[in-house]
Amino acid sequence: MTVNIALGLQWGDEGKGKIIDYLTRSAHVVVRAAGGANAGHTIKVQGKKYVLHLIPSGIVHPETRCLMGGGMVVDPMGLLDEVSELEAAGISRVWERLGIAPCAHMILPWHRAVERARESRPDAIGTTLRGIGPCYESKASRFGLPLALLAHEDELILRLTRLREDLLPLMEPASEIPSVEEVLALLAPCAAKIVPRFTNVTQEIVDAEKAQNTILLEGAQGSLLDLTHGTYPYVTSSSTITGGILSGCGVGPSLVSDTFGVVKAYTTRVGNGPFPTEIDGPVGEELARAGHEFGATTGRPRRCGWLDIVALRHTIHLTGTTALALTKVDVLEVVDTVKVCTAYRLPDGTVTDVYPADPYILQDVTPIYESFPSWRSSQGLEDENLHRYVDFVAEQTQTPIRVLSFGPDRSQTIDR
Ligand code: GDP
Ligand code: IMO
Ligand code: MG
Repeated sequence: MTVNIALGLQWGDEGKGKIIDYLTRSAHVVVRAAGGANAGHTIKVQGKKYVLHLIPSGIVHPETRCLMGGGMVVDPMGLLDEVSELEAAGISRVWERLGIAPCAHMILPWHRAVERARESRPDAIGTTLRGIGPCYESKASRFGLPLALLAHEDELILRLTRLREDLLPLMEPASEIPSVEEVLALLAPCAAKIVPRFTNVTQEIVDAEKAQNTILLEGAQGSLLDLTHGTYPYVTSSSTITGGILSGCGVGPSLVSDTFGVVKAYTTRVGNGPFPTEIDGPVGEELARAGHEFGATTGRPRRCGWLDIVALRHTIHLTGTTALALTKVDVLEVVDTVKVCTAYRLPDGTVTDVYPADPYILQDVTPIYESFPSWRSSQGLEDENLHRYVDFVAEQTQTPIRVLSFGPDRSQTIDR
């Protein structure tokens, strides 16, 4: 009946997990499109916290079918651990409700060893060290291993041998490099669990749609981390925008109704790269403290800054966002004055409200701000200042704000 998309419009950690869990109350199927365990999606229900890395954020609802799309890169051992953790936390029938695209690629210990070697250099990207980039490289080089090979042992051994040879010169010389036999031994228990979950994700989406069910396609990372359109080279290795989500899930655009863009009421970024509205000093630290801005995957502190409408308008266009979900409005209560960037001053002195096409200019722009008095979000939209801020964001982006989030718990959400 309806296929909707939910994705992040900044540099990740916008609160996608929370919003996808919230939207799942009316979804039958949730499909994660791309990326791997670089993602950390947090959901809180009645005080209980779940952090998902590979499994779609619909899993906390007890009946939802959760599919992992072919655009994903999956550490098989990590997937087994994540399922065990969820089951231990009381989530029922996780394996039974999971469907996995066999064309998603495997992240192997060698990919992580390659990444460790690269990230130890001075020009590091600041990646999550989960082997994401090297795995997508193997996929593009045609030396990669789709999960499908877990069901084809002879071909698996052949391909593991080729891949190890291919990656060996790129790994840290000092690191312990597992042999093909050791990796095979690690994969055996994974195959037993994962192969029975293989499914044709495209067919499941089409069938669910025909059966009048609602399907939610889940983006990971954020639009400004997109491999092509993000702040290259400080990006992830997959396409994080709508095009990448459709490709990762294996469906076309004609099925899609709404695209929910998740936006934090301020901005955070983990890792290196340009960040025009970054706040140095005590105000940034105060936001980080109030927003608990530490990575859900690596625990690294997140850099904090003001909302950047110039970048947001651009990511709304990149993704075809039709509605916004604005999160963490409660966190801004800790400051007296909330700033929003509405234009950039370029190095040559001109002012523009259009996002620069050249990503290398971004590090040299000066944001131009409008200021707003802060609010008390406990009063919801009854608080005039919050109402004014929300209206301003909607008007500046020409996009309705359909969901407002004022705390991490599922219940701390308003539908508009
Ligand atoms: P994701 O990667 O986009 O799913 O976001 P993360 O889970 O990495 O980071 C978002 C963090 O903010 C998590 O700790 C959430 O529990 C929390 N969070 C989400 N929405 C809100 C909100 O409206 N207010 C507050 N205070 N925290 C929120
Ligand atoms: P979720 O889904 C925030 C960032 C890393 C680094 C860059 C490349 O939780 O929003 P990678 O390991 O992907 O090669 O790292 O991308 N990054 C994220 N930042 N949230 C994420 O995911 C991220 N996934 C990757 O910090 O800067
Ligand atoms: Mg996250």
